[in-house]
Amino acid sequence: MRIAIAGGTGLLGGLVVDEATARGHHGVVLARSRGVDLTTGAGLDEALQGVEAVIDVTNVATLKAEASTAFFEAVTRTLLAGEERAGIRRHVALSIVGVDRAPFDYYAGKRAQERLIEASTVPWTILRATQFHEFAGQIHATAAVGPVHLAPRMRTQPIAAREVASRLVDLAESPARGGYVELAGPREESLVDMVRRWARATGHRGPIPAVPLPGRLGRAQRDGTLLPGDAAEIGEETFADWLRRTTG
Ligand SMILES: NC(=O)c1ccc[n+]([C@@H]2O[C@H](COP(=O)([O-])OP(=O)(O)OC[C@H]3O[C@@H](n4cnc5c(N)ncnc54)[C@H](OP(=O)(O)O)[C@@H]3O)[C@@H](O)[C@H]2O)c1
Repeated sequence: MRIAIAGGTGLLGGLVVDEATARGHHGVVLARSRGVDLTTGAGLDEALQGVEAVIDVTNVATLKAEASTAFFEAVTRTLLAGEERAGIRRHVALSIVGVDRAPFDYYAGKRAQERLIEASTVPWTILRATQFHEFAGQIHATAAVGPVHLAPRMRTQPIAAREVASRLVDLAESPARGGYVELAGPREESLVDMVRRWARATGHRGPIPAVPLPGRLGRAQRDGTLLPGDAAEIGEETFADWLRRTTG
């Protein structure tokens, strides 16, 4: 089957392309670097020719609600309109567990994306995943004040990105559910512990103090708001196994 992967050059998108290809599908990458801009629609109609399902794993690097909402609304509107024109009957999007509960500015954009999909005439499935194991390294790289790396206190049940990619391809292969699927890793972890273990495993030295983020945002990180519900599907690879596999 021809599957279009919006954001197919990104962290998750690259894994989705690999998984789809390994299963014998033809992956069509929709990304600016491949000549398709999903905020304007440039190049989209040509790219969607012959496509049967679309997986959306685009992203924008922002922590601001306005920028996140503007991006996800523009991309989702453009993509769904193109899918309608092309007669595509399966739209699979990746969202985040807790996006409807936690007051993070970035999540405003993800929730706006979900709402547009819910209202669309294109049959859809949304996979809400927890944080990826890779989140530990991302936090280590970005949460730093000068030479000091900080580890925010947060309860999370992280999942291997490649298991998320595999589940997205499963969903693209099956009829649209018109609903949500939750996916989380096999065990709850402390983000502080994950960041410290990742830093040790990759040869970073120096103390990594734990910091509680202030306000409602920090509370949502610490009180379990981001943990999956009872009906969530549970993946296999633990953070420890992932760390061993990726860092040796
Ligand atoms: N990180 C987590 O723990 C986590 C957990 C659950 C869900 N998610 C979700 O996973 C998704 C993917 O995240 P990621 O970290 O894999 O993203 P990423 O590595 O930043 O990749 C973003 C992708 O979006 C594409 N893109 C950006 N702007 C575009 C535009 N205007 N038109 C077309 N393509 C565009 C980029 O390609 P070009 O730059 O070439 O355009 C790239 O392929 C996000 O929606 C995120 O919310 C993340």
